[in-house]
Amino acid sequence: MTDTTFTPRVFSGIKPSGGLQLGNYLGAIKRFVGMQGQMETVYCVVDMHAITVWQDPAELAKATREVAAGYLAAGLDPKKSILFNQSQVSAHAELGWIFNCVARVGWMNRMTQFKDKAGSNAEKHSLGLYAYPALMAADILLYHATHVPVGEDQKQHVELTRDIATKFNHDYKVDFFPVTTPVIDGPATRVMNLRDGTKKMSKSGESDMERINMTDDADKIAKKFKKAKTDPEPLPETVEGLADRPEARNLVEIYAALNDVTPADVMAEYAGAQWGRFKPALADLAVSKLAPISSEMARFMDDPAEIDRILGDGSARARQIAEPILRKTYDIVGMLRS
Ligand code: TRP
Repeated sequence: MTDTTFTPRVFSGIKPSGGLQLGNYLGAIKRFVGMQGQMETVYCVVDMHAITVWQDPAELAKATREVAAGYLAAGLDPKKSILFNQSQVSAHAELGWIFNCVARVGWMNRMTQFKDKAGSNAEKHSLGLYAYPALMAADILLYHATHVPVGEDQKQHVELTRDIATKFNHDYKVDFFPVTTPVIDGPATRVMNLRDGTKKMSKSGESDMERINMTDDADKIAKKFKKAKTDPEPLPETVEGLADRPEARNLVEIYAALNDVTPADVMAEYAGAQWGRFKPALADLAVSKLAPISSEMARFMDDPAEIDRILGDGSARARQIAEPILRKTYDIVGMLRS
């Protein structure tokens, strides 16, 4: 086996199902922006993943544009990063099929996200939902991506990607696919619900008060933070004191992530503070950081043709990387091209 070195390249994606919320921003988009310029960056709106559960067609198209608008509004620059939607690059589906034939059923059966989502009702879910981690591996490896910024909940899927790359390389006696590194860092890789700090903030939760949507205006953002659930104690003296206080910890981590500091820095400023002091400070900070993004998003959403143009252009550039890698994969596998 030869020792290939791979050019550093970042790939990540967000599923367009429902709207974007603070967890997508702090856990993904803000970090995507931070990696831009450091190495080649490819960011996808993974519409093919969205339909693993039913999506109304008009809603899917709108959600795809909304994720793209979120990328752009938060500072991803289509000149510096490749921004596109997955279904415009058919190589994803093609490599996904090859990986369906590399991944083992036993590996898929260990995926905790499928078990959590499907529960005891697995029979009623789509085959796509079960197989989707193999498509995710294709998304990543189609670009020979070396780094994948993701939230904690996707770590197991990146590990599966590594297993697929390793098995492919081993079975075909090549050193073709890189073994990708998941990049899980920063204070808010898991943003929790504002009404229940033990649950993840999600786009599908019942009450709008439990999440910050990336489209919320200044008033809504401030109101939601001021009404966020807390416990009766003031803030502790140290980060360790947050351990058994999920709501307090979540608000401190959100503050830290928004302000680009560590939770320890926040504690240095607010040790022992009452909520009456901390919450308004958090609300102000959040409004100053998020309200400009939500108004910029609204501006992009008013010009869907421009979003579509950017995605079309990004797709063409994505194909230039993806197609040679797919062709080489077919050669390795022994698919005749004539
Ligand atoms: N599965 C990811 C999620 O649900 C989205 C995703 C699809 C992704 N393909 C990817 C993330 C490739 C990183 C890299 O959040």
